[in-house]
Amino acid sequence: MKIDILTLFPNMFQGFLTESIIKRAIQKDLVEINIIDFRDYSLDKHKKVDDTPYGGGAGMVLMCEPVVRAIEDLRGDDSLVILTCPQGKTFNEGVATKLKEYHHLIIVCGHYEGYDERIRNFVDMEISIGDYVLTGGEIPAMAITDSVVRLLDGVINTESSTFDSYTDNLLDYPTYTKPENFRGLKVPEILLSGNHEKIKEYRKLEQIKNTQKRRPDLLEKKND
Ligand SMILES: C[S@@+](CC[C@H](N)C(=O)[O-])C[C@H]1O[C@@H](n2cnc3c(N)ncnc32)[C@H](O)[C@@H]1O
Repeated sequence: MKIDILTLFPNMFQGFLTESIIKRAIQKDLVEINIIDFRDYSLDKHKKVDDTPYGGGAGMVLMCEPVVRAIEDLRGDDSLVILTCPQGKTFNEGVATKLKEYHHLIIVCGHYEGYDERIRNFVDMEISIGDYVLTGGEIPAMAITDSVVRLLDGVINTESSTFDSYTDNLLDYPTYTKPENFRGLKVPEILLSGNHEKIKEYRKLEQIKNTQKRRPDLLEKKND
């Protein structure tokens, strides 16, 4: 998979791309991630990419020209162009699972007051990562990229992702590590038994109990 991220702040991605699982996925050629500066597509001699809003008001607005030129340059037959936007479809594991099927994602990060409304005509999808407003689309772009990349074959051990929260509309079961007793808080006996069948049953039950307690709405979805 290839992911192109369009941003005004490429340096924000430095740590994201050079640590942990995303770094390894890139090294193993499981994903190619390109960070592209909108300014590279500006026709202005000062590389200007934003301006004040018509009608007045606060903040700067990303201009159509550099953003649309970038999208048109990068877009191929199998690309999906995503605009990060607090007004978009709320992102979740289901959306991540759909996005992982694309060969090429282009993610556009807004900033400041946002972008010229007309840019919406040039994207395929608008994604919000939740009902709150961030200063820019960079963190949403990282969240989307991270959740999609970890679903790609070979990125993480499939055994470890099979029971992850939101798979099959269930939350994950609780996990423990050493010591067996931490300040009187003990690891459930069953996990020390070595009986794999019983552990499997216990974990499934815990997934259901966990979901009933924390996110009963997911169980209703399951029965849709
Ligand atoms: C300060 S926000 C602009 C908010 C816009 N004026 C509004 O109220 O809808 C700047 C940029 O950050 C990104 N952004 C902020 N919150 C977001 C969210 N919850 N999900 C996705 N992107 C977000 C978008 O790219 C947005 O264009």
